[in-house]
Amino acid sequence: MLELGVNIDHVATVRQARKTVEPDPVWAAAQAELGGADGITVHLREDRRHIQDRDLFILKETVRAKLNMEMACSEEVIGIACRTKPDQTTLVPEKREEVTTEGGLDIASNPDRYREVVRRLQDQGIAVSMFLDPELRQIETASQIGANAVELHTGAYSLAISPRDREKELNALIEAGKIITEFGMRLHAGHGLTYHNVQPVAAIANMQELNIGHSIIARALMVGLKDAVAEMKMILKDFAQ
Ligand code: PXP
Repeated sequence: MLELGVNIDHVATVRQARKTVEPDPVWAAAQAELGGADGITVHLREDRRHIQDRDLFILKETVRAKLNMEMACSEEVIGIACRTKPDQTTLVPEKREEVTTEGGLDIASNPDRYREVVRRLQDQGIAVSMFLDPELRQIETASQIGANAVELHTGAYSLAISPRDREKELNALIEAGKIITEFGMRLHAGHGLTYHNVQPVAAIANMQELNIGHSIIARALMVGLKDAVAEMKMILKDFAQ
């Protein structure tokens, strides 16, 4: 089955713009689930610029779909993950100055550290996904250190302008997807996916999870979150493998 994970960080971003209590990402998660979301994704950043600890704790109690926590490999956040026990964590790189997650993780340069973190999270029953660029060296490392899944970074594909560049980036994702599947890991993808560009990524063999935030939340301002998620699910319905 191809699962849709809805990233609701932007809802918290609006709330934090006024440091008030609305809009509440917890409400948003419920609306996303009513629209058919298979997962709710939140990124607890070290700088807490959007999602707060309280959001994660309440979501752990209220989300009926899969709760996917994006996080950097920092001790503080690892501790919170181990205590909260979301269904899945997706390890991502984090830089303070970035607007959003910019590139995939470099796990190949420091496999021992990531192996240890994967084990600690898995010991708490949490599945671990790694956000990676479609690079063989990184994917091999993910397999060696026991990751459950790789989320392929679709940013380069999403930003490609010419059909030729887009095809090149899509092919890189397809090839990486084959290797991830051969290694026995789950295949996920995300970043920059929209209602217009998502289908070729959804069609990649064995694609199991897409994490989408910005495009769905942007549409939600116009049509409401439940409908925005339902529209994305409709686009993806033929790819439910
Ligand atoms: N996957 C990961 C690992 C991300 O960091 C993000 C952005 O938070 C997304 C998916 C969603 O990206 P977008 O908001 O561009 O859909």
